Amino acid sequence: MSLEEIFAFHEQEVGPIRFDEPFGGWVATRYSDVNRVLTEHEVFSSDELRYSTQPIPHSSNPLLRGLQATDPPRHHALRRIVSQVFTPRAVASLEPLIEAKVDALLASAGSTFDLIGEVAYPLSVHTIAGLLGVRPSRWPDFVRWTEAITSFFGTFAADETRQAAFHQALTEMGAYFREEFERPEGIIGTLMTSDLTEHEVIDFCTLLLINGHETTKSLLVNAILCLVSRPKPADMRSAVEEVLRYLPPTGGTDRFVTRPTTLGGRELQPGQRVVAMITAANRDPGVFADPHTFDPNRKSNPHLSFGHGIHFCLGAHLARMEVRIALTALLDRPWRITDLDTHRTPVGIDVLKVTLAPGRRAAD
Ligand code: HEM
Repeated sequence: MSLEEIFAFHEQEVGPIRFDEPFGGWVATRYSDVNRVLTEHEVFSSDELRYSTQPIPHSSNPLLRGLQATDPPRHHALRRIVSQVFTPRAVASLEPLIEAKVDALLASAGSTFDLIGEVAYPLSVHTIAGLLGVRPSRWPDFVRWTEAITSFFGTFAADETRQAAFHQALTEMGAYFREEFERPEGIIGTLMTSDLTEHEVIDFCTLLLINGHETTKSLLVNAILCLVSRPKPADMRSAVEEVLRYLPPTGGTDRFVTRPTTLGGRELQPGQRVVAMITAANRDPGVFADPHTFDPNRKSNPHLSFGHGIHFCLGAHLARMEVRIALTALLDRPWRITDLDTHRTPVGIDVLKVTLAPGRRAAD
């Protein structure tokens, strides 16, 4: 897939809510509809196991039991516990560690390297593993487990090999977390002193790994795709926000109707699925001027890439910081990117080769 094709893939149509027969649910694309679905959690529930009237393909998915799949009051209680470990202070204290990690990864990469395999992937997994309090000697296991888990969710059809690898990874990770309960550190330590059960702690740690890893990796890759042929942005923070709007790592998120309601003039029934299309809402011309243009200096940018409302992404500060640091290091070096080799698969871009050659970036 070429860069142009990847960009075109994100140019989704914005229009009235519609029922998609093959998908078996409603698709909301307007900013106002998507925002309402995300905000009105009493009408649009995150609890698929409770409200969905359709068969659930990955019912063993730990994400279906955790924070992201619960409604209040359970959600408030869980969120209060985990917010204690995700304070802005705790995240800011990771900054020097992430800088050192990025430097080390770039130093050990050759002049031509796969940005995903050699930088983005280890950076995101190691950061979360470090935050969780996992011993560095076990980080490679975390990379392996995360790969098995995320590649299983990326499959659309039943795939027995991936399913077996997924269950194996969950079992091994659960066993590891149980071992860690003997020497609690990091988030695991804090969670263990809360009133969560052992199972809930394991589910939450798994949720963090799955949520925080693939998305952060994609954000860094997407930032490179957007910025490769442009001058280095003067304001890296607003550039990262624009990458989030323009190529959001999470295309959409599902909700389940709890009671009869109307949305965009259509009648919705209890149990029906509604997908809130973040990709489309971020290109709504009623909210974003010139929405299909990537503008790293965009002033007003209320994108929905981290969601909205009570489920707003817990790791948003961490992801922004990680990507800003990695991007600054990559674009600051007296090198330039000379080759991009992208392959898109159903699970996303798998390989992104960059060559960093001596000299300033050509576009500077
Ligand atoms: C929730 C996106 C990074 C942890 C969400 C949601 C979105 C999102 C859209 C809301 C889902 C919904 O409403 O159904 C992203 C993106 C990221 C990112 C685009 C990177 C660029 C991270 C990181 C972590 C994390 C690094 C943790 C280390 C979570 C958690 C939730 C969440 C725990 C559930 C919050 C709740 O239900 O209260 N994320 N995320 N995310 N994210 Fe992220």
